Amino acid sequence: MAAHLPRFPLLLLFVVLAVHVPASSHGYPAPPLTTYDASMCPASSRCGNVSIRYPFYLSTTVRDITGYNYNTPYSYSCGYTDLKISCQYEELKETPVIFLGGDHKYTVLNISYESSTIILADTDVRFGGSCPAVHHDLSFNNLWLQNTSSNENLTFYFGCHSLLGVAVPPDLEKYKIDCNLEDPFVGDGASFVFTPDDHGKAQEHELDQDGRCSKVVSVPVRSEFLMTSNQPMLARGGYAEVLRYGFELEWYRTPTDQCDSCEGSRGKCAYSQKREFMGCLCSNGKVGHPDCPTCYI
Ligand SMILES: *[C@@H]1O[C@H](CO)[C@@H](O)[C@H](O)[C@H]1NC(C)=O
Ligand SMILES: *[C@@H]1O[C@H](CO)[C@@H](O)[C@H](O)[C@H]1NC(C)=O
Ligand SMILES: *[C@@H]1O[C@H](CO)[C@@H](O)[C@H](O)[C@H]1NC(C)=O
Ligand SMILES: *[C@@H]1O[C@H](CO)[C@@H](O)[C@H](O)[C@H]1NC(C)=O
Repeated sequence: MAAHLPRFPLLLLFVVLAVHVPASSHGYPAPPLTTYDASMCPASSRCGNVSIRYPFYLSTTVRDITGYNYNTPYSYSCGYTDLKISCQYEELKETPVIFLGGDHKYTVLNISYESSTIILADTDVRFGGSCPAVHHDLSFNNLWLQNTSSNENLTFYFGCHSLLGVAVPPDLEKYKIDCNLEDPFVGDGASFVFTPDDHGKAQEHELDQDGRCSKVVSVPVRSEFLMTSNQPMLARGGYAEVLRYGFELEWYRTPTDQCDSCEGSRGKCAYSQKREFMGCLCSNGKVGHPDCPTCYI
């Protein structure tokens, strides 16, 4: 019986190799990554005042797998796919931005590598003047990112019409946005802003009801800045300042792939732009699967 035991490691190795071959969504196997250009993994780079390090990466460091000719090039990053930073010019200053929920642009105000948190602000709002409209909710893929408890929602009701055609009810006056909100997005009618504490008022007046308001948008802001701001000031345009302080998101390593063992071996995880784990980027330009064998370090 003991004579059969040595076969297990071999069998296991075979199974592990078979499982590790990643596949593209076209049905072609992804080209195996065996070496990489070490310049795609700088220890740290800067964009404006923000230091960019793994698991973030600059959009300019994405690489195609060399020697493979696909209709759509298979490109990969040294870092988590969704943590791609584009360094752009805003008001002539180098500014890091990140795209969430497809094409919604957020300015990266700060990254804390100690607490794995990032502070983002909606770029449209930053440049939307003193009385900006908020065009969309926050949405993002939660494979690597999550909301944190330092945020609270600020809820906007834009372009609201009273059912009876009368003026704004007196108890809603102090929530009525009272600044120069000029944006075709808003439409005509009154607009309101509510903190979570006062959101009940909006529900009482059924602003949520279909057709009452042209747009309802709820976005996170940092509670610390919401607390220091009072409601009448918020409605008089103070909300713009609170929005410009941004909100916080936390990043983490996804538990659903082999990145854990890669990082455990001091490697950096390579991901395709389709969020597939492609291999472990080790020192001296070698790629491990799934981690960096000690002979690579
Ligand atoms: C960097 O921070 C300083 C001080 O907060 C600020 O004056 C400067 O405009 C910032 N630079 C960029 C490129 O954002
Ligand atoms: C970024 O966050 C760190 C730590 O939270 C803080 O010390 C630093 O002042 C922040 N930088 C900016 C530009 O907000
Ligand atoms: C984020 O978390 C805060 C605090 O737990 C919560 O109030 C807020 O609704 C959350 N935001 C989203 C978009 O889920
Ligand atoms: C905050 O707003 C988001 C939409 O952006 C919503 O999913 C979430 O439930 C809201 N949270 C609370 C506590 O209302």
